[in-house]
Amino acid sequence: MEKIVSLCRRRGFIFPSSEIYGGLSSCWDYGPLGVEMKRNIKQAWWRAVVQERDDMVGLDTSILMHPQVWEASGHVKEFSDPLVECKSCHLRWRSDDLTDNKCPSCGGELTEPHQFNLMFKTFMGPVEEAANAVYLRPETAQGIFVNFENVLNTTRKRLPFGIAQIGKAFRNEITTGNFIFRTREFEQMEIEFFVPPETDKEWFDYWVAERLNWYVNLGIKRENLRLRQHGQDELAHYARECYDIDYLFPMGWSELEGVANRGDFDLVQHAKYSGKNLNYYDEETKQHFVPYIIEPSAGVDRSFLAFLYDAYDEEPDQGEIRVLLHLHPDLAPVKVAVLPLSRRENLAAFAKQLYTDLRQCWTVQYDDAQSIGRRYRRQDEIGTPFCVTIDFQSLEDNQVTIRERDTMNQIRVPISELRSTLQAKLQGEDLFVLPPGGKIWKEETKV
Ligand code: GAP
Repeated sequence: MEKIVSLCRRRGFIFPSSEIYGGLSSCWDYGPLGVEMKRNIKQAWWRAVVQERDDMVGLDTSILMHPQVWEASGHVKEFSDPLVECKSCHLRWRSDDLTDNKCPSCGGELTEPHQFNLMFKTFMGPVEEAANAVYLRPETAQGIFVNFENVLNTTRKRLPFGIAQIGKAFRNEITTGNFIFRTREFEQMEIEFFVPPETDKEWFDYWVAERLNWYVNLGIKRENLRLRQHGQDELAHYARECYDIDYLFPMGWSELEGVANRGDFDLVQHAKYSGKNLNYYDEETKQHFVPYIIEPSAGVDRSFLAFLYDAYDEEPDQGEIRVLLHLHPDLAPVKVAVLPLSRRENLAAFAKQLYTDLRQCWTVQYDDAQSIGRRYRRQDEIGTPFCVTIDFQSLEDNQVTIRERDTMNQIRVPISELRSTLQAKLQGEDLFVLPPGGKIWKEETKV
């Protein structure tokens, strides 16, 4: 984990929040590379669960919601963790995280546990009184449930269908840590999939497999993922069944995403508290019923950490260590780097033109500082899949070299084919199948 944290800091993926003031516990800022990668994760998710499907639509609901939402959802009553305090040093802990009844910091005696509600409370408007209290949402899901009818009426979707949302959630966690794994402000990618009650089991299995495959398709090693079923005693108050998709993080197996069968709990509760009829009418069977909901709920920040950790690699390289991120091209913050072999004017102008052209398609970096070897290493370390090198011969034959991050193989292609070749390779076309008349060589024997 230390290496990942250090790489993130050094290369501008993630910075401590408010760092010039000494930082704020467990709050992090995504830097120039981090924000690109985070956007790529969200885009890959949206593409898989909304764009490429007929049975899903998206939504973006507000963080502040009517306070009754949280009464109805059960969060005011149930969304709490058992809190204990050390009688000596007064540090506070989650009692269910402790193996014995001693303070992990000083070994002191602990108080009896009491339930601590995890929702952040604030006030709407200029008067701080109980009547104006609102909560920062602890999950994005409720924004979807309360819009179920709106979506049905405006999209004419029929069951089974789902609604997807990406957004911030807030939890006043008693203990945080492991970098961006557990924080008080984080982002979720949630699907609420509405199904006829009698089909809940098959949809539950479907979504567990679908979500596992999403991680694998984006490069996470299968052996670093596992499914863990929740025991009856750990099921959330709304869940009938739940599986965690766990990832083997540096601190051990931990939850990456939860897939829950929420049954009809949420729609029944919101119908009760709002007085609205949230039944669904099935035109084929002429029946009214409350749909069941299958919920795959993923964390953007945890996915970020897992993708980064899984991609991190160190290789011996001519007496040194080559650090590289084997990031899937869809997730890599920079897709292509343009590297002129020299800063000479005619070469620079040529390379800049290429850079301007490629930037219309992808996030591209231009780097002309230091030796070409060092520049390759800099790009390897941030996971850039392809470097395009321009040399003096390029001025004569209008060809450039594409160098691939993982294999370090290189091919020479005509400029007229550069965009289409990169496009194909970024989309996963068999890497380094030679274009007609092209040649391939290893980095050590290059130009
Ligand atoms: N709507 C269901 C729900 O919120 P959850 O298991 O509590 O379920 C879903 O949260 C996902 O949100 C988790 O699998 C995790 O990826 C992410 N998550 C939850 N709490 C988090 C925290 N404190 N910091 C970072 N991510 C968190």
